[in-house]
Amino acid sequence: SRPYRIALIPGDGIGKEVAPEGLRAVRRAAERFGLALEFTEIEWASCDYYRQHGTMMPDDWKEQLGGMDAIFFGAVGWPATVPDNVSLWGSLLKFRREFDQYVNLRPVRLFDGVPCPLAGRKPGDLDYLIVRENTEGEYTNLGGTMFAGTEREIVIQESVFSRHGTDRVLKFAFELAASRARRHLTVATKSNGVAISMPWWDSRADEMAKAYPQVAVDKQHIDILTARFVLQPQRFDVVVASNLFGDILSDLGPATAGTIGLAPSANLNPERRFPSLFEPVHGSAPDIYGRNIANPIAMIWSGALMLDFLTGGEGAGRAAHDAIVRAIETVLREGPRTPDLGGSASTTELGEAVAALI
Ligand code: NAD
Ligand code: IPM
Ligand code: MN
Repeated sequence: SRPYRIALIPGDGIGKEVAPEGLRAVRRAAERFGLALEFTEIEWASCDYYRQHGTMMPDDWKEQLGGMDAIFFGAVGWPATVPDNVSLWGSLLKFRREFDQYVNLRPVRLFDGVPCPLAGRKPGDLDYLIVRENTEGEYTNLGGTMFAGTEREIVIQESVFSRHGTDRVLKFAFELAASRARRHLTVATKSNGVAISMPWWDSRADEMAKAYPQVAVDKQHIDILTARFVLQPQRFDVVVASNLFGDILSDLGPATAGTIGLAPSANLNPERRFPSLFEPVHGSAPDIYGRNIANPIAMIWSGALMLDFLTGGEGAGRAAHDAIVRAIETVLREGPRTPDLGGSASTTELGEAVAALI
């Protein structure tokens, strides 16, 4: 069989520092379990490219990436030189939409050896999956400005919730919850204040719930849901949320589990009509870029999710995934540690330590 084709896009800032460590771990696991991978490294989809070309990507980006089996992505954004809406709508958000990666799966887990900022919590108390809608909702370019620059200035920003788009992400979340031991699904809402889209979102969840009587559904307004992420994290198993709510939850959850430097994500087109994209939850971190101190584990764990997805959660890909996660567990328990975890090890040292254990 032909090798899996993977586009490696480091992007900007610490994306360029963690990407090589993700690659190192993935290559090592692939070698060990006999998975054939073929990487194409891509320099565009970065603010460096934008500075030279006035655009984030070449015109034929979709042809170049469309034939890939997966995209392994660092982070994009360099707000000092390119406005964030330009760099992100010109790259990552385009991938998510054009490749119909409508599920953004973001695991949250407290590891043994990682100091938890929540008092009295131990591994096992935080272990849940965020399923974030990834192609519509609050993330749109729809709207406009009237009376710009005057005191009468009005800005309108529309949200979009389609039945197709909502039902498919809910279905993914219900299926996922049904496949887990606890069979518990939290549905994030805000139907008290956001008076059109959110009551409707709830009604789609109620409709979907009829097909999953074995899944316990817990609907929560996003405000108290964030409080419970902090106060009662053991309550959560699978959490499904709209695009913006899911974005917020997926920085909060990892922060409560010690650091956002561990959090991975899988931007999935579950039907495999287009490549899926695997990336850390975090961004390009301009504040620490250039010092080789970023935690590479979010990138490495994302690589594990990629190998698992490529083989459909079976065989060599699953074994490679499990070996990478076990190596991460060992390093987090025994060190070395990057500064976000209270240590003084470098990005490279951590990457090498994980790879050596695979
Ligand atoms: P950020 O995630 O880049 O950084 C937030 C904070 O977390 C910073 O203090 C940073 O140093 C720290 N941090 C992040 N990753 C870390 C790691 N691996 N190890 C240790 N510390 C880490 O968020 P931001 O500052 O809001 O955004 C910076 C830029 O990144 C912006 O341009 C933003 O739009 C972009 N961004 C991109 C993505 C992406 O590509 N998926 C995600 C988030 C933000
Ligand atoms: C993320 C990021 C992106 C998002 C930004 C960079 C557009 O925060 O992947 O969580 O909001 O989706
Ligand atoms: Mn985010």
